[in-house]
Amino acid sequence: MEKTFTMLKPGVLQRRIAGEVIHRFERKGLKLIALKLLQMDKAMVETHYAEHKGKDFYGKLVEYTLSGPVVAMVWEGEEAITMVRRLVGPTDIDVSLPGTIRGDYAYRTRLNIVHASDSPASAEREIALFFKPEELIDWKDGN
Ligand code: CMP
Repeated sequence: MEKTFTMLKPGVLQRRIAGEVIHRFERKGLKLIALKLLQMDKAMVETHYAEHKGKDFYGKLVEYTLSGPVVAMVWEGEEAITMVRRLVGPTDIDVSLPGTIRGDYAYRTRLNIVHASDSPASAEREIALFFKPEELIDWKDGN
């Protein structure tokens, strides 16, 4: 089973829609194996978004990510990375169609509600940045 990292950005808690967004992933059949609410610090945000350093939106992206708590999660499932990105929709809000999370809830690319890993290497790096290995719970279905 593949694991992927997702992060609900500060606007999600501010708008009180965390439950709705998490519900989208659960309803699809993905398995939640780790979750935490945290206020990131600047160093952590800069590590998480290192690949965007120097881009014109970088400063605002860091500022927004620091503006409140985020919800960090690890989801598991067959081809979970692709499945989550399909549910989330494209980064560019102009092409995120209604029916996707970004298409339904976000108005601007910079404030696009949710971050999702884009590759197995990113998933591994992002999971390790937010979670200790023992915080990933290997629970069994069927109760
Ligand atoms: P995310 O998936 O978290 O990864 C990088 C983030 O940078 C992205 O979501 C957006 O929040 C932001 N971003 C990417 N491209 C742009 C852009 N062209 N303009 C503003 N923000 C952007």
